[in-house]
Amino acid sequence: MTTVVVLNGPNLNLLGTRKPEVYGSTSLADVEALCRTEAEGLGLALEFRQSNSEGELVDWIHESGREVKAGRCIGAVFNPGAYTHTSVALHDAIEGIELPVVELHISNVHRREPFRHHSFISPVAVGTVVGLGVHGYPLAIRALHRISLAGQETAS
Ligand code: DQA
Repeated sequence: MTTVVVLNGPNLNLLGTRKPEVYGSTSLADVEALCRTEAEGLGLALEFRQSNSEGELVDWIHESGREVKAGRCIGAVFNPGAYTHTSVALHDAIEGIELPVVELHISNVHRREPFRHHSFISPVAVGTVVGLGVHGYPLAIRALHRISLAGQETAS
């Protein structure tokens, strides 16, 4: 079965209790359940991960990119958390392994502090979903699925 990967960066394990006025009260386990329902509806298996470590995220991006090249994965929905605004390493990993990524943010980062307005990920993402709450995750999975189907049509 083809897989869709959902990667979550630092502090997203605190979802549901961390600043609920910004991120809502849904837990990361609930987000995983939302993603699983969406993926299964599209005939995809779900690989859902969270890490507070930049290096581990780099490794998972490389692994996912290799799975895409092998035809076993359509790409990744990626909420890089605060690394969005700091990480050249994550930018380079996505670019280097050519992983199709939909960047996702639960909150509307453009309405928040200026330091959240710049993303190192956006220039190497196929698209972004921003500010739609946790319901952005299933939308991003759907978008990645569409993009991968369009890619297959172009390839054939
Ligand atoms: C976030 C936005 C980031 O600025 C922040 O550091 C996060 C979560 C979001 O989902 O809205 O940790 O990526």
